[in-house]
Amino acid sequence: MEKPLIAAKMPAQVSLEPGMHFWCSCGKSSKQPYCDGSHYGSEFVPVIFKLADKQDVWLCQCKQSKNPPYCDGTHKTL
Ligand code: FES
Repeated sequence: MEKPLIAAKMPAQVSLEPGMHFWCSCGKSSKQPYCDGSHYGSEFVPVIFKLADKQDVWLCQCKQSKNPPYCDGTHKTL
């Protein structure tokens, strides 16, 4: 099983609009924390999540969270 790259050892605090969002799970995207298609050819796929309302969220960038796409504090152990 491939391991994701660690894009950053800290989450990204973002304000997201309602709708669909595509979180990078491979760590290779140049548009962190979002997917830019860099996973093509690997076993990774983006995590697609939908928000009903505008929200401020902390999105994982270490790609080790047990609750993707959200930061769960795992980055502190890396
Ligand atoms: S940035 Fe990945 S768990 Fe916090």
